Amino acid sequence: MQPTLTTGAESLELSWPDGTIGQFPFIWLRDTDPSGFHPQTGERVFELTSVELDIAPTHVELAPGKLMVTWPGAQEPSAFDLEWIKAHRPGQRRADPAVVEPVLWRSELGGEGVPRHDAAGIMSSDAALSEWMADCKRYGLAIVTGLADNTDAGMDVARRVGHLRETNFGLTFEVMSKPDPNNLAYTSVALPLHTDLTNQELPPGFQFLHCMANEAQGGGSTFCDGAAAAEDLRKEDAEAFELLTSITIPFRFHDKVTDIRSRKAVITLDSDGDVSEICFNAHLADILDLNPEQMPAYYRAYRKFMGMLRAPKYGIALRLSGGEMVVFDNRRVLHGRESFDPSTGFRHLHGCYVDRGELDSRLRVVAAQA
Ligand code: OGA
Ligand code: ZN
Repeated sequence: MQPTLTTGAESLELSWPDGTIGQFPFIWLRDTDPSGFHPQTGERVFELTSVELDIAPTHVELAPGKLMVTWPGAQEPSAFDLEWIKAHRPGQRRADPAVVEPVLWRSELGGEGVPRHDAAGIMSSDAALSEWMADCKRYGLAIVTGLADNTDAGMDVARRVGHLRETNFGLTFEVMSKPDPNNLAYTSVALPLHTDLTNQELPPGFQFLHCMANEAQGGGSTFCDGAAAAEDLRKEDAEAFELLTSITIPFRFHDKVTDIRSRKAVITLDSDGDVSEICFNAHLADILDLNPEQMPAYYRAYRKFMGMLRAPKYGIALRLSGGEMVVFDNRRVLHGRESFDPSTGFRHLHGCYVDRGELDSRLRVVAAQA
C-alpha cells in the first residue's frame, strides 16, 4: 500500500492507509541513505560531516515501492524501500528478538520453580537453545540438566551461547576447597548472597556453574532476584533507592598478581529507569571512602538493601546434583552457598562466564534463522 507524501521545511511525512504516520527529518534521510552503507558489511560508510545540518532535498517523489530523494549536487537519488522505511521510522526502537521481558521473582518461586532445560536438547536444537536462553533472561536463572560427567560438558553448553569471558580466575575455574585459596569460593565457608567480580570494570554477565560432585555435608545453593528486591526498595524507601543508584562505592580484588578495582553503584538503572544491574558483594567492597557526612544515610540504605537481599521473602534454596548446571545473570541474580564439610565428601563445581551481549547476539541470530 502506497503512503501519501507531504514535504515540510526540515522533514517529510509519510502517511500509510493503515494509519501509520512517519516523520523523516532530512538530515536523518541523508544519514540513512542505503547507498551510504557498505554493500558487504552493512556498516555505515557515509561521512556525516560532509553535509550541512540543514541539508534539504531538491526533489522528493514516490515510485512503486520506493521513496526517491534527490540531494543537491548528488548524481543519483537516494532510494528507500517503503516497507523498510515504515519499519524503521524514527521515534520507535528497532524490533529486537533479544528483548525478553523479565519476570521478577521472590521466594514463592522455590527451588522447584526454577526453569529446567535438558543439555541434549540445547546442544542439538536451535529452538531448544533459544527457549533456554529466553528463560535465562526472563528469570535470570535456569538449570541445565543431564550433563555428561566431564568438565567440557557444561562449557560446551556455554559455548553454544557465545565466547567465554576470561577473567583473572581463568577462562574456566574450579570451585572447590583448595590449599592457599585466593577467593572465599575456594574454601568451604558459607558464601552469603552476592554477585561475582563487582571489582571488575564490567562484571561478567551470565555465570555457569556445572556441578561435578556435591557429596559433602552442606553446600546447598541459594539465589535471590536482586532486581525484585531493588524494585521493592524503590517502593518502600525511595531515599535509600536514590542513594544506592546515585552513589558509587569502591570494590577491590587483590592477590599476589592482580589488584583490580572499580567504583560501582549498588543498583544501576537503564535509560528507561528500569533496574538493569545489581552490584553487591560484601567481600569485595573496599574500604568505604564516602564523605563522613554522607555515611549515616548511605550505611542506612546499604544495610537496609543488604537485609532485604538476605531476607526469606526473596531467597530460594536448592541443592545442585552432579550433572546439573546452574546458569544465572550475575548482574541481576545473587548467588550464595551454605558452608560444607570437606571431610564428609567431595564438592566440585566447574564454572565460566559468558557476557550478556553474547547471549543477546545468539538469540537474534537464531531468531533470524528460524
Ligand atoms: C563462586 C560461588 C558458589 C558455590 O564461585 O563465585 O559463589 O556454590 N560459588 O560454591
Ligand atoms: Zn560467587
